[in-house]
Amino acid sequence: MHPDIREILFTREQIAARVRALGEQIAALYPASGRGEPPLLAVGILKGCVPFFADLIRALPLPLEIDFLSLSSYGAGTASSGQVRLGQDLSVPVAGRDVLVVEDIVDSGRTLARLKELLAARGPRSVRVAALLDKPSRRAVPFVPDFVGFTVEDAFVVGCGMDYAGRYRNLPYIGVLRRGVYGG
Ligand code: IMP
Repeated sequence: MHPDIREILFTREQIAARVRALGEQIAALYPASGRGEPPLLAVGILKGCVPFFADLIRALPLPLEIDFLSLSSYGAGTASSGQVRLGQDLSVPVAGRDVLVVEDIVDSGRTLARLKELLAARGPRSVRVAALLDKPSRRAVPFVPDFVGFTVEDAFVVGCGMDYAGRYRNLPYIGVLRRGVYGG
């Protein structure tokens, strides 16, 4: 275990099993697209989505396309700024399409609530959200993800895409940082 990690919440094996189950659950919700219709568009929110996104799309037995966008996030802190700005935008239009947004974690809910508004204004057929982790006790705005890997208590977690000050995204498990590491 990494010396900055206090406790492992979910192991690599637990995450893999959960993502496989999520893939089946999600695939069951999207009927095969008709001939000539564009397939499901899986949209990853950079950078935290990367490991979850890569695993999830491979667990989806569906025709799909992928795209990415980036949003302003926490910077180097552990508390939400409350401000959500679009950075890198999608490379394709979403009008008329089924969109599956893939995110690492829902905390205050501000990021995804805002992103859903932003995407909805572009006229997609549907927008659903898959999050690897959910911290419902931290909501500042009402937001319920459609698909959740794991629900966690109010602890700052890293690994499997989630970072503190840009680090720990590559840890294959999800763990809680030692308090001394971020002064929390
Ligand atoms: P929200 O807008 O407060 O829901 O924040 C969502 C974003 O905050 C996530 O995409 C993460 O980048 C970041 N975040 C929230 N909680 C954590 C955490 O426990 N560890 C790492 N990043 C987090």
